[in-house]
Amino acid sequence: MSNVIMDNQGIQHQLVTINVNGDEYTRVVKANTLLVNFLRDELDLTGTKKGCELGDCGSCTILLDGKPVNSCLILALDADGKKVTTIEGVSDTDQLSVVQEKFVEYGAIQCGYCAPGMIMSATALLAENPKPTAEEVRAGISGNLCRCTGYINIIKAIMAASGQEIPN
Ligand code: FES
Ligand code: FES
Repeated sequence: MSNVIMDNQGIQHQLVTINVNGDEYTRVVKANTLLVNFLRDELDLTGTKKGCELGDCGSCTILLDGKPVNSCLILALDADGKKVTTIEGVSDTDQLSVVQEKFVEYGAIQCGYCAPGMIMSATALLAENPKPTAEEVRAGISGNLCRCTGYINIIKAIMAASGQEIPN
């Protein structure tokens, strides 16, 4: 490929262009650069958190062409030419998104570590299914692990963001 550069240690580097939160970024990255590291280290978008780095916890969830994915399991090269949305771009304005507002209102954030990933998964869920049942909400955030106090306020917040009654 014409845009592959080999360094003096034999490591391949490649040019990528990724649209992140509406802006295009072109960078030379090592071929094995994970998308989560590209976002955090190259673009300084540290809202996306690294937890397990194994695809188990969901802390690193971002939207890739609108779909929620674990950015610790994807190479930056795999996002070349695609659209990424991170927690920093979840709202188009200076205001919080509805999901973020409801997380605050319902006290759905116990730690700042897993909240961004939860919000990204919830945002993707409501974009695809604007009126989910509580069970669908549970399924929608099932890839996001909270290791402390549980999920009930998170589920309440997502139901409220969908304009529906809060389950008891
Ligand atoms: S850091 Fe990616 S799933 Fe845990
Ligand atoms: S709220 Fe972050 S681990 Fe539970």
